Amino acid sequence: MEIPFRSFDTKRETYSYLSEQLKKVLEDTQDQTAGLANAASVLYLLLPRLNWAGFYLMKDGVLVLGPFQGKPAVSQIPVGSGVCGTAALQKTTQVVQDVHACENHIACDLNSRSEIVVPLEKNGRFFGVLDIDSPTVSRFDEEDQSGLEQAADMISEWLENR
Ligand code: SME
Repeated sequence: MEIPFRSFDTKRETYSYLSEQLKKVLEDTQDQTAGLANAASVLYLLLPRLNWAGFYLMKDGVLVLGPFQGKPAVSQIPVGSGVCGTAALQKTTQVVQDVHACENHIACDLNSRSEIVVPLEKNGRFFGVLDIDSPTVSRFDEEDQSGLEQAADMISEWLENR
């Protein structure tokens, strides 16, 4: 499947295009691994200045590494631990402007400087988290948070129907 790479002047246009392409790859399959692998690829391809994009999925009470793009990462994260575990515990989006100033951050790639983690939740079911890292400090603003929460919502709705 060809997802044309495009870059835009505004985040509004970027997230609108991202949402179209995510919809396309998710509608293409019923398989969880295939859908999330393509979703991670689309996020990594279309959002500028990232060094990691992927999923941690809730399995037997622990967050387990799922499909991703970027360097190898820690394979299990207990709920409450690190930025991902905090998002899973609180069920709220976590934005870390500077990971060097965040005691709770679990470093996977030393190039990471800022991070956003969005819970994947739908109708009371919690699936895991979407984790995105950037080599730029303060890469994620409110527009990114809103765009990625919409993306996470679409992914959660798709996961709910697997
Ligand atoms: N930094 C994360 C761990 C996962 S890696 O960034 C991919 C955390 O603190 O939860």
